[in-house]
Amino acid sequence: MRKTKSQKVLAWSTKDIILNVLVYLINTAAIIGLYYLTVRINANEGLAKEGPFFTTTKFLHFILLMVITISVMAMYLAFEEKDFLKRAVNSQMLFLIIEIGILACGAVGAYVNPYLRPLALVALLTLFVTNRRTAIFTNVLFCVITFLFDFFGGNMFSDSYPVLIMGFSSGIIATLVMDKASSRLRLLMRSLLVSLPSLLCVGMDIIENGARTTVVADLVSAGLSGALAVAIFMILLPIFEASFKKVSSFKYSELTDHKSKLIKKLIQQAPGTFNHSIVVCNIAEACASAIDEDALLARTCAYYHDVGKLRRPEFFKENQADGVNPHDDLTPELSANIIKAHALDGYNLIIKNRLPQEIADVCLQHHGTLPIIYFYDKAKKFTDGEVDVMQYCYPGPKPKTKIAAIIMIADGCEAAARSLQDRSRANVKKVVRKIVNDRMELGQFDDCEITLKELNIIIHTVVNNLTGIYHSRIEYPKVNLDGIDIN
Ligand SMILES: [Fe+2]
Ligand SMILES: [Fe+2]
Repeated sequence: MRKTKSQKVLAWSTKDIILNVLVYLINTAAIIGLYYLTVRINANEGLAKEGPFFTTTKFLHFILLMVITISVMAMYLAFEEKDFLKRAVNSQMLFLIIEIGILACGAVGAYVNPYLRPLALVALLTLFVTNRRTAIFTNVLFCVITFLFDFFGGNMFSDSYPVLIMGFSSGIIATLVMDKASSRLRLLMRSLLVSLPSLLCVGMDIIENGARTTVVADLVSAGLSGALAVAIFMILLPIFEASFKKVSSFKYSELTDHKSKLIKKLIQQAPGTFNHSIVVCNIAEACASAIDEDALLARTCAYYHDVGKLRRPEFFKENQADGVNPHDDLTPELSANIIKAHALDGYNLIIKNRLPQEIADVCLQHHGTLPIIYFYDKAKKFTDGEVDVMQYCYPGPKPKTKIAAIIMIADGCEAAARSLQDRSRANVKKVVRKIVNDRMELGQFDDCEITLKELNIIIHTVVNNLTGIYHSRIEYPKVNLDGIDIN
């Protein structure tokens, strides 16, 4: 889940509460079951270093601590991530990530090398399917659980190093350095940083206790622990994306690749719309960054906001390179209906192609309930002013998120700037301010909680971008080349 900060908090239903309670009970039981399995395996395979590692008192003690730990997780989500928690499937996803982490670390620690444990796996997976804050919290929780497994589980993982510090620091480093990694290869390179705490722990252990026979294996394992976490993460991420309908930054990057199906179609069948989308994309990305919204989501939404034009590309000005305008033969009402339809057509196309719902929603909302002024004016000229403006308005809905509002503004400003004769900064600023004010007066931002301060930042960012893109060209002096010989 890449959370858009402007998402609204939905109301709780009894079904949500019951499902969430069930998820917590079932998964607490599952983690306790994993603990029981751990101590049994340790007993059978002689992996425990100290005994007795399993007594009824110890078991009850473990259960109590686990219930406290998991309750803290529930409290955190209930206070800080209400919207996320309301869907029980999200809680289930977090539990599944923790359970996979326990299994992966347990198996690697017991059968390969304790220092090779992919301790950053939980932080990484949570980061890419939720957000950094939840990833950091889940990582802390996972470290506590891993420590309890170590402490009560018969020393399954070894008792000679501070697992809590290793897990905590590897996970935090992963959440800090991996988020902006743009490619999977770069992610693998950065995994060395994630391994650093484990390497330092091996070093400290050697200084404190002297070199053991396993020192080389321990050092290599510690150095590879980050890479192992990244490797398992790469295998699991697509499964999580598909199973829980989550969209990671990788997915967004793939969607904006020019080889992706709809973008390719846009390039081939509606090149004018594609070029317009590229400019909207640059403006929207800068605006989202400027007001601390998800820039990658804004970028992807901009790419797809006009894909509905693929149904009838020749009816849109930017694709009429040959000068033929099919609207010349249509009534203004019919023309307006064709133009209006592109928002819903785009929504349907995005859903049909199984792209993320939030991209489809922004596509549907990017014109809100704005009127199509050109055909409304044309209709008024034909009918002596008696025209129902509602027939010339987009059906909406109005933007429901700040990202949708940004796309609406960037879209309108790009189209206006393209047709400007005077592209001086002062004039561009005047036009952008008017576009934002018009939309505000028409109530287009009423449903998206965008503030005046944010709108001012957006205006400033759009002006900077547009003056950069459509800067006034130098007028070349006329030079008489007669008599000049350069051969
Ligand atoms: Fe549009
Ligand atoms: Fe557009």
